[in-house]
Amino acid sequence: MRKRYGQIQAVDGLELDVPAGVCFGLLGPNGAGKSTTMRMLTAQALADAGRITVLGYELPRQSKQARMEMGVVPQLDNLDVELTCRQILTVFARLYRVARGDRAAAVERALRLVNLHGRADTIVRDLSGGMRRRLLVARGLIHEPRLVLLDEPTVGLDPQVRQELWSLIDGLRSRGVTLLMSTHYIEEAERLADTVAVMSAGRIIAQGTPADLVRAHAGEQVLEVYGRPDRLAEVSDLALRNGWSSRRSGPAVAIMRAEMLDGQGPEGVRRPANLEDAFVALTGEEIE
Ligand SMILES: Nc1ncnc2c1ncn2[C@@H]1O[C@H](COP(=O)(O)OP(=O)(O)O)[C@@H](O)[C@H]1O
Ligand SMILES: [Mg+2]
Repeated sequence: MRKRYGQIQAVDGLELDVPAGVCFGLLGPNGAGKSTTMRMLTAQALADAGRITVLGYELPRQSKQARMEMGVVPQLDNLDVELTCRQILTVFARLYRVARGDRAAAVERALRLVNLHGRADTIVRDLSGGMRRRLLVARGLIHEPRLVLLDEPTVGLDPQVRQELWSLIDGLRSRGVTLLMSTHYIEEAERLADTVAVMSAGRIIAQGTPADLVRAHAGEQVLEVYGRPDRLAEVSDLALRNGWSSRRSGPAVAIMRAEMLDGQGPEGVRRPANLEDAFVALTGEEIE
């Protein structure tokens, strides 16, 4: 699919096939087109070109049916701050046509799932950032969808709250819910996703399990050389002259595929290659 905003080609010939039952991670830097992709999958944005099928429904023609069967957790928090957690979930239970007699139980279940049952009657304004995000997740799950779209589920959250959300997402995954999650946090993709599609400038440039991506694009080992800035510049130069793929990595220069160096490389510390190495090798971009 394709989508342009004025001069900006936000999505540029993206092909995506998300199998049922997996957690699929869309990993890319800010501006890669992840949210635009998500919005096209929920028919909040119309594609300029392409064909989209969600749960067997053609979009945008059958977007109503598709939306009724999927859960959506948007990147931006659009919760009404005057309402309580229970009120918000009740409104959504009705919207998603949870049978009248089942609504109270559905709300209770969703509150428990995200560990907000103690806050059922707190208004959104009085919730912390992490609680608001959990409420957004609960809202997306109120009708027990078999497909859930999560756009940057932990952006802006502190590490502890992020961990909580990760366990929540992992729990959904182990119950067989299909998850499509976008993120610009490499660790998030590495920890949660069965399959990762690396997105850059509106298209997917590589796809596979995190381990496959690492092996294919960063090799087995990375040699990290630490030192003063002039030493680092020297090592970068050496790598360039020898055709070794390298990058700055915090206070070190990291040389990829160190297993191929055969003792020729400089003194340094070897570590296993990770998804961040693969990501940088693929996109040439450093991200958080
Ligand atoms: N409604 C919009 N109007 C204009 N430009 C947009 C709009 N939505 C997204 N864009 C642009 O499209 C590109 C992709 O954005 P987005 O899909 O939000 O990326 P991501 O979610 O990966 O950060 C960016 O350059 C962004 O500025
Ligand atoms: Mg986004």
